[in-house]
Amino acid sequence: MTIYMWTDCVPKFVTLPSPSLTQHVVKMHIFRAFFVLMSRNCDIFRHTLFCHCDTLLEKDKHKQEKIVRLSTVIITANTEIHSGVHLLEVHAPQLAQAAQPGQFCMVRCCDTLATDPLLRRPFFIHSVQRRQGLCTLLVHVRGRGTAWLVKQQEGALLDVLGPLGHGWIVRPAVRNLLLIGEEEYIAALTFLAQSAIEQELAVTIIQHSKNAVGIYPPALLPAEAEYQVITSDGSVGLQGDLTGQVSKLGSYLDWADAACCSVSHETALALYSAHERLRLRHFAQAAVLRPLVCGNGACLTCQLDTHAGSKLVCRDGPVFELRDIM
Ligand SMILES: Cc1cc2nc3c(=O)[nH]c(=O)nc-3n(C[C@H](O)[C@H](O)[C@H](O)COP(=O)(O)OP(=O)(O)OC[C@H]3O[C@@H](n4cnc5c(N)ncnc54)[C@H](O)[C@@H]3O)c2cc1C
Ligand code: FES
Repeated sequence: MTIYMWTDCVPKFVTLPSPSLTQHVVKMHIFRAFFVLMSRNCDIFRHTLFCHCDTLLEKDKHKQEKIVRLSTVIITANTEIHSGVHLLEVHAPQLAQAAQPGQFCMVRCCDTLATDPLLRRPFFIHSVQRRQGLCTLLVHVRGRGTAWLVKQQEGALLDVLGPLGHGWIVRPAVRNLLLIGEEEYIAALTFLAQSAIEQELAVTIIQHSKNAVGIYPPALLPAEAEYQVITSDGSVGLQGDLTGQVSKLGSYLDWADAACCSVSHETALALYSAHERLRLRHFAQAAVLRPLVCGNGACLTCQLDTHAGSKLVCRDGPVFELRDIM
C-alpha cells in the first residue's frame, strides 16, 4: 500500500510492507495530524494534553520510580560560551532532584501566547547542582527554537517537561570510564562525567571538533577528568578525526571498562567497525539524537529498529547499547 505521510518532517509518498504496519503508521499519522491541528488552534487542548501527560507520567512514577514533571523554571544565568553556543542555568529543583545522566527535557521555545515553534525541543540535562536546585542546558543554535531560547535573559520563565528518557547505565564493576563525544553532541556526556567523578571513577573524555572554536571549555568539566581533544585542523590537541585515531583510541579503549559515545551515526558506525572492543556486550553505549515530536512516548514517531526489537528513541533511549543499534 502507498500512503502520503510525514517522514523526516517532509511530506512524501511511501510504500509500506505489511497491512499491520500500514494500520499502525496510519494511526500514528492521524494522531499526529490531530495533535498538530488541535494544538495550533486551541490553547485549552494544549494545556489539557500537557496536564494529561503530566498525570500519566506521575502515575508512571509509582510503577517505574520515575518522576517526570511539567514545570515552569526560571533562568538564573545565560552565558555565551562560543558564538551560537549558550549555557543556560535554570532554577528547577524537581528536575535537579530527579534527573539522571543521559536524560533530557523538552523545552517550550516560544513566548507564552505564541505557537511557533509549536513543539517543544529536546535538550540534555548538561549538569546538575542538586542542593541548589540548579540545572544547566548547553544550547547550540540550530533553528528558530534554539535561536529564541538563547535570547532569553536571566529572570525569564521557561516551560519544561522532564526529566525524560532512559540515560546512561554505569555498572557497579566499572572503574575506568571512557566518554567519546563530537562537537555539538558533547552535552549528552557532561552530566555523566560529573556523576562518575562523584562516584570516584576514573574518567577520560575524548572530544572531536572541526576546529578550536567547537572545543568544549575544559573549565566546565570536573578537574579530575582527563580531557583529550582532537581537531580536524589540528588547531588544538591531536590533528585528525575520531576514526583516524585508531591506535590512540584503541589504547584508551583497552584501559576502559565501559565506553559511552555521543557522536553522529556515521562516526558510531565507523568506530564500531574499527574497534572490536566496542562490539563487546555491555561495553559500549551510544546516544541517538534525532528530532523528537512529543518526547514522552505518546506519538510513536521516533521508532527505531534495533537488534533488541523496535524501540522508541524518546522513551527507551536516547541511550542504547551500541551493538543493538549498529
Ligand atoms: C534527546 C535529544 C537531546 C538533545 N540535546 C541537545 C542539547 O543538549 N543541546 C543542543 O543544542 N541540542 C540538543 N539536541 C538537538 C536539539 O533538540 C535540536 O537542535 C533542536 O530541537 C533544534 O530546534 P530548532 O527549533 O532550533 O531547529 P529547527 O528549526 O527545528 O531545525 C533546524 C534544523 O536542525 C535540524 N534538527 C533539528 N533537530 C535535530 C536533531 N536532534 N539532530 C539533528 N538535526 C536536527 C532540522 O532538521 C533542521 O534542519 C537534542 C536532541 C535530542 C533528540
Ligand atoms: S517523540 Fe513521540 S513517541 Fe517519541
